[in-house]
Amino acid sequence: MKEHLERYGWILKILPEFLVRWAEERLKLQPKFQTMIAQEDLKVAALLESSLKPYHSRFKRHEALPEEGIPRENILSEVKTMCELERPRWEKGFVSGGIYHGDREHIDFLNQVYSLQSQSNPLHSDLFPSATKFEAEIVSMVAGFSGKGECAPDVCGTVTSGGTESILLAMKVYRDRARRIRGIKKPEIVLATTAHAAFDKASDYFGIKLIKVPVNQDFVLDPKEVRRRLGRRTIAIIGSAPAFPHGTIDPIEDLAQIAEEHGVGFHTDACLGGFVLPFAERAGLPIPKVDFRVRGVTSMSIDTHKYGFAAKGSSVVLYRNSELRREQYFTATEWPGGLYFSPTLMGSRPGALSAACWASLLSTGAVGYRDSARRLIEAGDFLKREMGKISGIRILGDPLWIIAIDSPEFDVYELMDRMSERGWSLNGLHHPPCIHIALTLRHLESGVLGRFIDDLKWSVTEVRKHVKKGGGMAPVYGMASSLPFRGLVGDLLKKTLDAIYKV
Ligand SMILES: Cc1ncc(COP(=O)(O)O)c(C=O)c1O
Repeated sequence: MKEHLERYGWILKILPEFLVRWAEERLKLQPKFQTMIAQEDLKVAALLESSLKPYHSRFKRHEALPEEGIPRENILSEVKTMCELERPRWEKGFVSGGIYHGDREHIDFLNQVYSLQSQSNPLHSDLFPSATKFEAEIVSMVAGFSGKGECAPDVCGTVTSGGTESILLAMKVYRDRARRIRGIKKPEIVLATTAHAAFDKASDYFGIKLIKVPVNQDFVLDPKEVRRRLGRRTIAIIGSAPAFPHGTIDPIEDLAQIAEEHGVGFHTDACLGGFVLPFAERAGLPIPKVDFRVRGVTSMSIDTHKYGFAAKGSSVVLYRNSELRREQYFTATEWPGGLYFSPTLMGSRPGALSAACWASLLSTGAVGYRDSARRLIEAGDFLKREMGKISGIRILGDPLWIIAIDSPEFDVYELMDRMSERGWSLNGLHHPPCIHIALTLRHLESGVLGRFIDDLKWSVTEVRKHVKKGGGMAPVYGMASSLPFRGLVGDLLKKTLDAIYKV
């Protein structure tokens, strides 16, 4: 069966999607196929067991609540041990993205603020006026460097738990507004295939159809292709600044102009670039405009927990005016529990994270963000230059500080495995197969970039020897990106989530 799939898989690739889904459903009924899937499941379960649960043999498993409470010092000691095991890899700069600042003094400072505010909940603004102050000021500070000004005096927003929530909320705003004002019941959003998966989540949760446009040879949206796909049901266009996979910036000015002409919303997803781009521009670097200074831009997502250097669990969603923001709010006036109103998806929220985010913004300041942005872009230039000298790999598009590479010669996932052997945790991407590194302040520490280039050269040489070592992630990535039955891949991912919640 597996051989059949490998041999005839290409036929499935040229069939329309609904036929492939039909074939997949038929196939799932075949006993032979079920046996094959069961065998694959066992292999995957074994792989997951070792990669997701490395602590099984080291720490006691707590399947049920202990009868007597465990002494606090024992718990603290166990948590500390886990931190010490996990810290070196990211602290020494081996990780793509993930931890964006990571300096011990900065983390200690955020932790102090967090611990002072750990009981705070912005839902209870009467009890915690500090949380209200922190959140209003976070939004105001972020709006201030995202184009709020003469052309966009009313920019406003809310604090959220992360990029995904910011995106979900903005998409809900466009859906509800289009339904209310234009009577659109089957809304559509036009976006690049490279836009973040959070938009797929919004589509899934809110019943919005995504019209996905393949990116061009520069790995960005082509405005002409976007224009062709607009229709009566379009409620918004999305542009990324930059997009996660290849770190490339969509042509926001052209796209937003199309949105304005068509009378629909335009969302700039600046989860990654919201801090780097404006401050790189202030540092005098040539950076395209992606924020509210561009007329058609009506909303933005900007992650404070990435290059804003806040603790994880914080982002900002901005709107051009308060009329749009109001569409995000939720109120329940008849609930016996009292008058209920909440600005975002969550009810109770961790006020301590907003306090830590506020503290990160204040302590870094414009000068700090400018300096980081300049250094990140310079580091990106260095990497691109050095990678350009390594034959066998090529850089996709024209990125700044998030750089994706593939290879016309060899399996790029094999390269990722060799880099993993050297300790690196890079991101494996597909459609097309490639890998990327998202630079952070960790990579700006002395010697890290040089080590990356040395290890990359070593890995390329190893892969070129054509010795497939096996055992790594290359076969898994290869299979997952080429298998025509996407439902099966989705099932596999859901099984991974099940495995995560197994004690
Ligand atoms: C461009 C972009 N948008 C949105 C997100 C989603 O952010 P989060 O993981 O904080 O929900 C990410 C995350 O990497 C991203 O890179």
